[in-house]
Amino acid sequence: MRNPEAEYRKRTPTSERFWQKARTTLPGGITANVKYYSPYPIFMRKAGGSKLYDVDNNEYIDYCLCYGPLILGHGHPAVVETIKRQLDEGGTTVYGTPNEIETKMANKIKRHVPCAKTVRFTNSGMEATLHALRTARAYTKREKIAKFEGHYHGAYDSVTVSVTPPLSQAGPDYAPIPVSNSAGLPNYILENTVVLPFNDLPNTEKLIRKHRSELAAVIVEPVARGFLAPDIDFLRGLRALTDENGIVLIFDEVMTGFRLGLGGAQEYSGVIPDVVALGKIVGGGLPAGVFAGEPEIMAVLSPVGSKSPNDHLFHSGTFSGCPAVLAAGYATIEVLEKPGVYDHINWIAEEVKKCMNDVFEDYTIAAHATGVGSMFQCFFTSTRPIRNYRDTSKADAQKRVRFDLELINNGVYVRPHKPFYTSLAHTKADLEKTCEAIKEATTTIAT
Ligand SMILES: Cc1ncc(COP(=O)(O)O)c(C=O)c1O
Repeated sequence: MRNPEAEYRKRTPTSERFWQKARTTLPGGITANVKYYSPYPIFMRKAGGSKLYDVDNNEYIDYCLCYGPLILGHGHPAVVETIKRQLDEGGTTVYGTPNEIETKMANKIKRHVPCAKTVRFTNSGMEATLHALRTARAYTKREKIAKFEGHYHGAYDSVTVSVTPPLSQAGPDYAPIPVSNSAGLPNYILENTVVLPFNDLPNTEKLIRKHRSELAAVIVEPVARGFLAPDIDFLRGLRALTDENGIVLIFDEVMTGFRLGLGGAQEYSGVIPDVVALGKIVGGGLPAGVFAGEPEIMAVLSPVGSKSPNDHLFHSGTFSGCPAVLAAGYATIEVLEKPGVYDHINWIAEEVKKCMNDVFEDYTIAAHATGVGSMFQCFFTSTRPIRNYRDTSKADAQKRVRFDLELINNGVYVRPHKPFYTSLAHTKADLEKTCEAIKEATTTIAT
C-alpha cells in the first residue's frame, strides 16, 4: 500500500525543518489554527497566477487560494499595479482620516450587493460578522443570536459555538444543542445562542418561534461553508420568519460575496437579508471586511449628534478603510465585472468536480465532489445529496486526508480536508494536470 505521508515528508524536508523552528516561537508553528495539518504544513516561498512554490522548490496548482479571496489568482497585474499606484500617489500606507476611496468602494459594493445600502469597512471577515451581530443587538435591543450548526463566522466568542460539534454531544437533528467549539468559551455564550438545523425549515421555524422575543439576529451562511447549497425555499422561509418576528437577518457572505457572482448569494437566491457581512474577495487579497445593510438598521452606528456613549453603537478600527486595501478590492471587482470572467472560474470548478466524480466511479469508490459555483468539497461517503453539517461529518475524514496528501504529492495544493476554490488564473493545462493528480490520488485510496 502506498504511503502518502512518507512521500510527503520526502518531498518537503525544508518545510519540516522550518516548521520545527517556527514551533519554538509560534504556538503550533503557525499563525492561524486553520494553517496546521498533520504531519506539518508546507511553507510556501513564492506564488504567481494559479501556482504556489514551496521552500523545497516544488510547484503546485493552488486550489486553496488563501481560503477563497484570490479569485483572480496570485498577483493579478491589475491588482498589484493598483496597490503600487495607491501607495505612490497617496504617499503613505494609511491616512487615519476619511478618504474618497471609502465612498467610491462603498458605492461599488452598493451597486452589486442588493442589501448593501449603507456600508462600514473592517479589517477581516470575522470583524464584519462581529459588528453585524452587534448592530442587530443595538437595533433590536435584544441579546440572543441564532446561528446554524456547522456554520463558521470567525474566531470570537459569540460564534465559536457548534461549528464542528461531535455528534455525540450535539443533540437531536431537529433541535441541536449549543456546543462550545473552543477552549476558553464562557458559558453565558452558550446560554445566549440558539443553534438551528440548516436546510430544515420546519424545525428552524419551531426554534425561532420559541425564542422570538429574545432574538436579535439570525446569522446564516447562505451557502453553508461555501459548498452546501441552500434550498431556496428554506432561505425564503427564513426571510419571512425573521420579518414576522422583528429579527435581523444577517447573511454571512464572507465566502460567497463576489464569488458566487457580483451579487453573491443574494443574487443567487433572490433572498435579501437586512445586513450582510463580506470579506475575502472584497479586499482583493489584502485584509478586509465589510458589514452593510438597511439604512434604518445601520443608522445605529452613526455618532453624529450623539449625547451619550450608549445612544449609538461603537464600531472602530485603526486600519478600517485602509486605502491600499480598498483600491485592491475595487480593482478586483472591476476585473470580475468583465464579461465571461465568472464563466471561466466556474467552468474550471465544474471540470475538476467532473474529473473527481468520474474517477471515483471508475474505481467504484464511495465518494463525490459537490459544490456551488467555484467552491466545492469532496466527501468519502455514499450519502447524497449532502445537505448539512451532520451529513458531512459522517464522511471518512481519514481517507480524505490521505487523498489530499497524495494530491499535494502530485503537485495539486489544497489544505487537507478543506474546500477547493478556483480562479481566473487556472488554465486548461492546469485542469489536465489536476485530473492526472486526481487519478494518482484515487489509486492510492483504492489500494
Ligand atoms: C463564512 C465565513 N465567515 C467569516 C469568516 C472569517 O473571515 P476572516 O478569516 O477574514 O476573519 C470566514 C473565514 O473563512 C468565513 O468563511
